[in-house]
Amino acid sequence: MSKQTTSAYSRRTILTTGAGLALGTALPNFGWASTGKSPTDIRLIAAPGKTKFDPDFPEASSIFSFNGSIPGPEIRIPQGSILTVTVDNQLSEETTVHWHGVRTPNSMDGVPYVTQKPISPKASHIYEFKAIDAGTYWYHPHMRSYEQVGRGLYGPLIIEEKKPIRVDRDETWMLDDWRLEKTGKIQDNFGNKHDMSHNGRVGNFVTINGKRLDKFPVQKGERLRLRLINAANARIFALDFQNHSPMIIALDGQPIEPHEPEGGLIILGPAMRIDLVLDMQQETDTNHAIIDRSYRGLEYQLTSLNYTAKPLRKHKPDWRIKLPSNNLPEPDLQNAERHEVLFLGGMMGGMVMQSMGIKSAKPFSMMGMMHSKNIWHINGVAAEGSIMDPMLKLDINRSHILEMTNATAWHHPIHLHGHSFKVLSRNGKPTKYQEWQDTVMMAPKEKVEIAFVADNPGDWMFHCHILEHAASGMMGVIRVA
Ligand code: C2O
Ligand code: CU
Repeated sequence: MSKQTTSAYSRRTILTTGAGLALGTALPNFGWASTGKSPTDIRLIAAPGKTKFDPDFPEASSIFSFNGSIPGPEIRIPQGSILTVTVDNQLSEETTVHWHGVRTPNSMDGVPYVTQKPISPKASHIYEFKAIDAGTYWYHPHMRSYEQVGRGLYGPLIIEEKKPIRVDRDETWMLDDWRLEKTGKIQDNFGNKHDMSHNGRVGNFVTINGKRLDKFPVQKGERLRLRLINAANARIFALDFQNHSPMIIALDGQPIEPHEPEGGLIILGPAMRIDLVLDMQQETDTNHAIIDRSYRGLEYQLTSLNYTAKPLRKHKPDWRIKLPSNNLPEPDLQNAERHEVLFLGGMMGGMVMQSMGIKSAKPFSMMGMMHSKNIWHINGVAAEGSIMDPMLKLDINRSHILEMTNATAWHHPIHLHGHSFKVLSRNGKPTKYQEWQDTVMMAPKEKVEIAFVADNPGDWMFHCHILEHAASGMMGVIRVA
């Protein structure tokens, strides 16, 4: 059953870039108090700044941020409303804003040269779209993301259900890591070739909402909805809540049958989001660490749940935790068109290809890897330059299955713009929850099948969300027409 119309992406008349520019220059710089009149009318100012990630660090670090804070302001709007965001670029370089995971019309997708001209320094740009899906999303630039996002330019976008589930608190944790010098300054080696050809820029200092958070106060009996967003360039999180039993209720904004994580770990690749329901069932005046076990031998305590003296209630609430569906168009798997997608490249890529018996259609040499733009390939091509020929052309309003193979030695969180897709299988085995995602993690040598109805016309980016990989070839365009 595929019932979808493109009119779901209600297109109101959008101000042109020119009009946006005029508006931007006419308005004063609002600085901190920079949101507009209503929660759906927002002003974001991208600007450089300085911060100390820990008050004890001797040096402040050069960062980029929206409205002077990392993360930028949490945009919270009701499902079905129309969001209007004016972006002022006060950086000394071009930028754009992409609404990660949100099914917007193509012209609002924020991809330089593909869907819009970059926003020049001192210029403004207006984005406007209808928030059709409830869930946890985020916004970030799509220009030199490995440095712009890497320096803190991002924020959460929460689209609230018409009938949300009942909780005591709804919290957003934007997770990120930073590669700091001993003095506390960000190391300036963004986009270096080693990061590009290995696992990206993994940092050495992890923050929650831009700060180190040692303790997170909770009350016994309390029910929390915790929205986790991984804004890191490359770090994968694998969170162990130990004697707490988180229930996963949404992945990448889309509801899923509530369940406990397999193996007990909440795994979050770059750009991915997970909504949890967390019941506080331990005794007052106790502390419970949340451990990140992602990198063996490098486990550390992300934060701890700190039970304050006053319990909220005796028993665990029995309120429903299942979220209402966003009614995404269901792909017709019987009649879907199939497309192969092969990811190659990176350090030790040749070895993996050999062991999987894969031959590259186009010669893929170590010589090519000398150019940092050409370290990774999708279907034999490394994204180069700003205008890209589509790697796939999909017939509009048809169901499509992408059979993806990761013939590299590294993990890749693969993201598609403009659509959510259903993760059908991994290595030939159907997934238990047939989850909807917009970013799917692929392990080395893994094969993953995804399916979706291509109902949103335009040229859509399809790329690895390890930002150093995206910048060195692991990026392509899928045309829906
Ligand atoms: Cu989160 Cu192409 O982006
Ligand atoms: Cu990658």
